[in-house]
Amino acid sequence: MKAPIVLAVDTQDLDTAQRWIEATQDHVSVYKLGLEFFLTFGHEGVRRIKGVTDSDIFLDLKLHDIPHTVGAAATAVQSLKPRFLTVHASGGRAMISAAVQALPTTDVTAVTILTSLSEEDLFEIGFANNALESAVALAKMSTEAGARAIVCSPLEIAAIRSAVGNEPQIITPGVRPEGSSGGDDQKRTMTPRAAIAAGASYVVIGRPITQAWAQGAQAMTTAARTIAEDILQ
Ligand code: C5P
Repeated sequence: MKAPIVLAVDTQDLDTAQRWIEATQDHVSVYKLGLEFFLTFGHEGVRRIKGVTDSDIFLDLKLHDIPHTVGAAATAVQSLKPRFLTVHASGGRAMISAAVQALPTTDVTAVTILTSLSEEDLFEIGFANNALESAVALAKMSTEAGARAIVCSPLEIAAIRSAVGNEPQIITPGVRPEGSSGGDDQKRTMTPRAAIAAGASYVVIGRPITQAWAQGAQAMTTAARTIAEDILQ
């Protein structure tokens, strides 16, 4: 059964991407293709991925520009019919609204505060409030502007859920299964199940599933199934 997992297809090899999808699609609802993928393989690459799965596509382009330009960029990917397309919430209300108007059948997804930014970084950029308060304010503004999904840190799920209500989808990376050895760059993590229990609609997962590829397709299927079953139980 497909779980609310967004698999981060972080590979530079299109054949590998296709095999990952074949190995996991019974358990994964959405495949996330990032800027690197899109700049390398373009529309043709996205179409190839769409050709091997009936799961949805999350186009993680994190657009951020003046409203006219973002609207035009969103229109340029319209034919790919992504289920989700990311924009930076800090691009503002009019920019988000331009993307929403360009893509009525896509859930424009606002990225709040990058978790790579520290409180000091935010202060240096000029944010008046801390990461949590800024993320909540950005999420509220984004949903008012028409964004139907929000990307935030697992630690911000509860505050954002109570600020935006039940309808907007909340999507969170930075999740790690129980007992995951760590050893990578995700620091303040939650388990997939805890993130969903806290109010997330989807969890973004990459390496806890994709690293199993080194042991073969079957191992990757098992990794995806184990996480899916844990979320769905
Ligand atoms: O491999 P891992 O599970 O860490 O992959 C998480 C995915 O989510 C990656 O594609 C990463 O770029 C993305 N992401 C993240 N943290 C954010 C925003 C996006 O890990 N704050």
